[in-house]
Amino acid sequence: MVLHAARRVALFLLVWAAAGRAAASRDEYDGPLLNGNFEDTPDRSQMDGLKVLGPDAIPYWKTTGFVEYVERGAKQGDMALTVPEGAHAVRLGIQSSIEQQLSVTPGRHYAITFSAARTCTQADERLNVSILPDGVAAGELPIQTIYSHNGWDSYAWAFKAKHGLVTLVIHHADDKVEDPACGPIVDNISIKTLNPPHITHDNFLRNGGFEEGPYINPGSESWGVLLPPTNEDPISPLPGWSIMSYSKAVKYISSEHSRVPHANGTRAVELVAGLEAALVQEVDIIPGRSYKLEFTVGDAANGCVAPMSVMVATAHGSQSVTHNSTGTGGCTRGRVDFTAEVNHTRVVFYSSGYHTTSDGTGTLCGPVIDDVSLVFVHPHARRLFR
Ligand SMILES: *[C@@H]1O[C@H](CO)[C@@H](O)[C@H](O)[C@H]1NC(C)=O
Ligand SMILES: *[C@@H]1O[C@H](CO)[C@@H](O)[C@H](O)[C@H]1NC(C)=O
Ligand SMILES: *[C@@H]1O[C@H](CO)[C@@H](O)[C@H](O)[C@H]1NC(C)=O
Ligand SMILES: *[C@@H]1O[C@H](CO)[C@@H](O)[C@H](O)[C@H]1NC(C)=O
Ligand SMILES: *[C@@H]1O[C@H](CO)[C@@H](O)[C@H](O)[C@H]1NC(C)=O
Repeated sequence: MVLHAARRVALFLLVWAAAGRAAASRDEYDGPLLNGNFEDTPDRSQMDGLKVLGPDAIPYWKTTGFVEYVERGAKQGDMALTVPEGAHAVRLGIQSSIEQQLSVTPGRHYAITFSAARTCTQADERLNVSILPDGVAAGELPIQTIYSHNGWDSYAWAFKAKHGLVTLVIHHADDKVEDPACGPIVDNISIKTLNPPHITHDNFLRNGGFEEGPYINPGSESWGVLLPPTNEDPISPLPGWSIMSYSKAVKYISSEHSRVPHANGTRAVELVAGLEAALVQEVDIIPGRSYKLEFTVGDAANGCVAPMSVMVATAHGSQSVTHNSTGTGGCTRGRVDFTAEVNHTRVVFYSSGYHTTSDGTGTLCGPVIDDVSLVFVHPHARRLFR
């Protein structure tokens, strides 16, 4: 009898614990949104050619304006729409948008990743990503600079939820084009719940290995995910780091496809925009203490063959570290020592040159940075080793 009751209690606890876990992980997103790859097709009766007629035609999405549902090899008049990869996607004409509701946890940070390709050569195509009703300042993503060689680029953008139910809106804002269908093709829209890492005794920098970051679609690994400028915005798809630039991006890469120099991790950042985009972290330091900043500079084994230099700057000066890349995935360890004179500094990394891959495609590439750490240099240790 006692045993019976105990068993029942145990069972109850088990169920309760399982329910608790399910509730806690309900919004631990790490993958495509519902029909985020648009493989769930609209009903033909809801379409006129490629054009989507009703706002609810595409399963799980709401559309407004001139939206087309396209597939690989689709033609529009004489023009072949290049849907370079993936069977289906949507094309956002002028002033059109797609949206989906998301259940999130207020206070948490989320990264949205999606792939986009241009279709109109003249247009200055821009996508405006926003979260409603949070009124999160729209992330305007200029897509004039093509970074990949197949025409598709992936982008990540992050937000901090203020409400439990929000709507993600991807809007094509241009209205200067004559053809209303003209606009970018969008595919593989994904979401990742970010868990911003904290500083530890082993590293006063957060996310120094870049392991915490946006979702990278398995099909987009070869071209990585572009992280557009976040500038002073405290919400970044790469927790701990901000991307300082006027309009250029850095590229988040995965070892599944690129060579990533870190011995343990699978993620790194490729500085593809030369002097025009910097990776920055704000860090508190203690005046009078000696610090050692270490990092790896390598190449992604993507045929980026050149001596590639990374500039690293703190409040105490700057230094350049060069990796002589043969394009096959080597790396060089860099080290900067300084004694803090202030209580706060920015740690800044940027590529001091512009590089393209040697395959003739003109694809932008650059030094890969990984494994960044900042620690105290023990004054006695210093004396011993010098
Ligand atoms: C971006 O989209 C949001 C939401 O749709 C809208 O409120 C905002 O005005 C748009 N910004 C531009 C520049 O179109
Ligand atoms: C979309 O995702 C699929 C499946 O992961 C992949 O095969 C395809 O290359 C991706 N396409 C783009 C444009 O991201
Ligand atoms: C890799 O991980 C091991 C064990 O976790 C650690 O001792 C080592 O320092 C790490 N290597 C790098 C390069 O971070
Ligand atoms: C890289 O190559 C340059 C010459 O191109 C040479 O001066 C330099 O020492 C090399 N650096 C390393 C780390 O091999
Ligand atoms: C850091 O130094 C500035 C002045 O240089 C001072 O205003 C500020 O209070 C200091 N902050 C801390 C946390 O010590």
